Amino acid sequence: MKYKAIISGIEAYAPDYVLTNAMLENMVETNDEWIQSRTGIKERRILKDPTKATSDIGVEAINKLLKKKGISPDEIDMVICATTTPDHIFPATANIISDKVGIKNAFGFDVSAACSGFLYALNVGSKFVESGTHKKVLVVGADKMSSIMNYEDRNTCIIFGDGGGVVLLEPTEDMDLGIHDSILKSDGQGRHYLHQKAGGSLHPATLETVENKEHFAYQEGKTVFKFAVKGMSDTTFELMQRNNLNAENLDWLVPHQANIRIIEATRKRAELPVEKVMVNIQKYGNTTNGTIPLCLWEWENKLKKGDKLILTAFGGGFTWGATYLTWAYNS
Ligand code: COA
Repeated sequence: MKYKAIISGIEAYAPDYVLTNAMLENMVETNDEWIQSRTGIKERRILKDPTKATSDIGVEAINKLLKKKGISPDEIDMVICATTTPDHIFPATANIISDKVGIKNAFGFDVSAACSGFLYALNVGSKFVESGTHKKVLVVGADKMSSIMNYEDRNTCIIFGDGGGVVLLEPTEDMDLGIHDSILKSDGQGRHYLHQKAGGSLHPATLETVENKEHFAYQEGKTVFKFAVKGMSDTTFELMQRNNLNAENLDWLVPHQANIRIIEATRKRAELPVEKVMVNIQKYGNTTNGTIPLCLWEWENKLKKGDKLILTAFGGGFTWGATYLTWAYNS
């Protein structure tokens, strides 16, 4: 029997607390006009409760999804969590999520690929579904980026926010639906431009690493910008070409929400009208692994069975790619 993996449900969660550009003006030397014109961001959400972590974002989204689909936690057979801000270095956040939700019959693990993690995890999960071994796979993309933000560094703190979402992957025998094709890439030479310097086995936490603020995200914005434009637009363009997709027959582009100018460059290269591009960066900023599920969630009511989508992302590492899929249900 041959199977394709479909997204059969989506939910997401964004914390209530809103950090606006105006509030950031009181924290670092910046202004609303600069942030909006350079990034497209107006505000971002922050998980303020110090007892809550990335797993709790995943749990909120999964609980809503299981309720909406009428599925019991026992039916889930795999949980993948894409995150850059795991609750702990180990155990995997996927395990913590499973425990909090009451998922007992699944195995789980995390995917670490910065902002491309959700795309990578979606592809990993889909292979298990296509093989016929797993029938209900949860793919979470979530980050509490505020936990690694230096709110004295205007290069990073204006960009990132907290949030995430989850998709359910299930098998179908309809070969016209689901995940069709992907281009996934990485290049470790990019690792110096967007990373967290300390906290891993190379530079474990010391008084010095804390004093030097090496546990926060570090970014060389201009370099990241250049590679992100090329990475997202090249993979989107190549995927469109080899699947005979164009501005007419592609319904939606779902880009990682890193910067409105990166999204615009990708849209132009794909020659798509603005109406076909999902953009909510103004509300959430860059939630890293959360951006693509947050988009799919907000657009779920507009998505129709048969719609053709390209999801594309770029992240630290560097990591990047694009995935072509056909939406499988009407809301
Ligand atoms: N507020 C006000 N001014 C700022 C600022 C801020 N938050 N950050 C930088 N500036 C200033 C700079 O100091 C510089 O001033 P100068 O010309 O007097 O030296 C000027 O604005 C331009 O800075 P620059 O760094 O060249 O801006 P930019 O247009 O490259 O925008 C980013 C900066 C970070 C928004 C942009 O590079 C970017 O989005 N990069 C990609 C980031 C990303 O997507 N990361 C996640 C990838 S998954």
